[in-house]
Amino acid sequence: MVPSMLSHILSLCTALLSHLKSNTTYYTFANIQYATATRFSPPRYPPPVNRRNISDGSQESICPQAYPAWQFSMISFLGGENLSNATTEQLLNVSLVPAVETANKSLLPVVVWIHGGGFVQGYKSEDGNGAGLISRAVEMGGEGLVFIAINYRLGLFGWLSSGTNTSAQTITPNVGLHDQLTALRWVRDYAHLFGGDADRITILSESAGAGSALIHLAKLLASDGQHAPLFQRAILQSPYTGLSPSSRTQTATYRAVLQAANVSSFQELGRRDSRTLQDVNQAVIAPSPYGSFAFAPVLDQATFPFPLAEISTKHTRKVVATNSKEGLIFTAPNVQSEQSYMSAVASLVPEFPPDALARLLSSLYPTASYSNQFERLETTLSDLLIRCTAEYTLSAFAETSHAYQYSVPSGSHGADLHYTFFDGDVEDLPEHNLTVALALQGYLASFRLGGAPEAGVDGVSGLPVYGQGVGVDLNITGITEEATTWLDKNKCQGLRDILDGAFA
Ligand SMILES: *[C@@H]1O[C@H](CO)[C@@H](O)[C@H](O)[C@H]1NC(C)=O
Ligand SMILES: *[C@@H]1O[C@H](CO)[C@@H](O)[C@H](O)[C@H]1NC(C)=O
Ligand SMILES: *[C@@H]1O[C@H](CO)[C@@H](O)[C@H](O)[C@H]1NC(C)=O
Ligand SMILES: *[C@@H]1O[C@H](CO)[C@@H](O)[C@H](O)[C@H]1NC(C)=O
Ligand SMILES: *[C@@H]1O[C@H](CO)[C@@H](O)[C@H](O)[C@H]1NC(C)=O
Ligand SMILES: *[C@@H]1O[C@H](CO)[C@@H](O)[C@H](O)[C@H]1NC(C)=O
Ligand SMILES: *[C@@H]1O[C@H](CO)[C@@H](O)[C@H](O)[C@H]1NC(C)=O
Ligand SMILES: *[C@@H]1O[C@H](CO)[C@@H](O)[C@H](O)[C@H]1NC(C)=O
Ligand SMILES: *[C@@H]1O[C@H](CO)[C@@H](O)[C@H](O)[C@H]1NC(C)=O
Ligand SMILES: *[C@@H]1O[C@H](CO)[C@@H](O)[C@H](O)[C@H]1NC(C)=O
Repeated sequence: MVPSMLSHILSLCTALLSHLKSNTTYYTFANIQYATATRFSPPRYPPPVNRRNISDGSQESICPQAYPAWQFSMISFLGGENLSNATTEQLLNVSLVPAVETANKSLLPVVVWIHGGGFVQGYKSEDGNGAGLISRAVEMGGEGLVFIAINYRLGLFGWLSSGTNTSAQTITPNVGLHDQLTALRWVRDYAHLFGGDADRITILSESAGAGSALIHLAKLLASDGQHAPLFQRAILQSPYTGLSPSSRTQTATYRAVLQAANVSSFQELGRRDSRTLQDVNQAVIAPSPYGSFAFAPVLDQATFPFPLAEISTKHTRKVVATNSKEGLIFTAPNVQSEQSYMSAVASLVPEFPPDALARLLSSLYPTASYSNQFERLETTLSDLLIRCTAEYTLSAFAETSHAYQYSVPSGSHGADLHYTFFDGDVEDLPEHNLTVALALQGYLASFRLGGAPEAGVDGVSGLPVYGQGVGVDLNITGITEEATTWLDKNKCQGLRDILDGAFA
């Protein structure tokens, strides 16, 4: 073993012992650094050795969060925890919860959680620590798993790009994606120290995390055969890609950032203090059109090597999940007229010719098919922002994918997170349904084992291969295998021109 590697392992182990919170079934190791990064630059790997400063895990490291104005009412509704104590630009950490079945000396499968939050919000432990999934895995397979959650940079810290129409060519776009890839690399290289098996890594991801995972999937497959894969399976819940801002939109956002920071160059921007940049981040994200967040992954050669549709179907197995009312939280409540419907959609795809957009929407989503414009917009945005991304992925990988829909009322985007992170208290769950919780966690926890995901509940079916369009609907009125009518192939085909940007 080379000395530098040995010293990394020693430094990790020192950190581990101090983080250790003993529990009969699992330990928690919080905030192990996976890389270093200077502002706006891709991360440097491996992380430095630091034996002096040992975190006891009581403190989080959370990237500065920012909220568009259209979300303000929702935030007060959610009761907005004050995160400012923990906010920092130094956040490239992972947290681990390994199952401790030490009697069996073999390595356990690994699940890596990539959180969502519109690429501008969220952090690795926001939704839970994975202990419930570990318990479910032990119940179902006897083996357990190692759960690892990762942080990545958000907002302008993670997704600033300048488009092609500026002289700021020194900006590396998508550093947030580079963070995620580096974290996955850390997992592959170090998971065995925590009892994890680097040959059995599953990405579990939701919303912007799942949109990111989709990009990693394309990249992984593009480099297939040249590099050891960073993961073998992927679970994409409600994949959201942010509709790939065009070059012109990137340039506009970039200029807004410089202006808000009172600087005239990227170099000057990088020298502003952290507090100022956090304010700039919030100021630029606040006016985002209803349903959007100003920043998202952008197309660049390094991260989007070729169209998703051309990817062979023979690879990595996937579960692709959607919720029954994905569009609800992205839909402005006051939309009542045809005109406000049209402009709400148009504001999310500013480059698409408005006349063509109006024709397309009138034919795919005719007013007569909906009881009102709000319902029409909710359906349109469900498809445009989430469901068609899921449908394309499933169609492209029909023989290696499995689909389910989470329909527990309200079925809104993100509501399923309570079920994913269920840890024994049904009061935490929408509609408090234990059967749905066990089945959903069963699918997630058994997927690492081999074949098709199993519910692990008597009389409840596993997830079939998607094939011609089959999946499982999870609701409190029944859990049923059926045709995936919730994914409308015709509408998604119609929206293809708009969405192609995301995978072009
Ligand atoms: C240990 O883990 C179990 C199983 O998840 C949990 O119910 C229990 O509260 C934990 N105990 C402590 C002391 O953290
Ligand atoms: C270690 O912690 C001390 C005190 O909090 C701090 O001054 C120092 O910069 C830290 N060193 C490293 C390498 O993080
Ligand atoms: C949040 O906490 C910070 C530091 O503890 C404090 O300065 C700030 O005023 C708080 N913000 C809100 C909105 O309560
Ligand atoms: C923030 O810091 C204050 C004062 O140090 C402390 O009382 C509070 O618990 C901290 N909040 C969080 C969320 O860590
Ligand atoms: C998280 O990692 C960063 C480096 O990105 C480090 O500076 C920080 O101390 C870590 N956070 C905690 C709470 O240990
Ligand atoms: C022990 O490990 C082997 C090999 O991975 C596995 O097949 C078996 O299920 C494990 N047994 C238990 C009880 O975890
Ligand atoms: C590039 O930027 C210039 C100056 O801001 C603007 O006039 C021009 O229309 C832009 N070109 C494109 C293709 O966006
Ligand atoms: C930018 O300049 C304006 C006007 O001089 C000032 O009000 C504002 O606070 C400055 N913003 C920053 C981030 O320095
Ligand atoms: C789920 O069940 C509820 C009844 O509790 C029903 O109102 C709703 O329409 C169902 N959702 C779907 C997508 O079938
Ligand atoms: C929970 O969901 C299952 C599966 O849909 C259903 O059979 C059961 O009736 C539900 N229980 C309650 C209390 O709603």
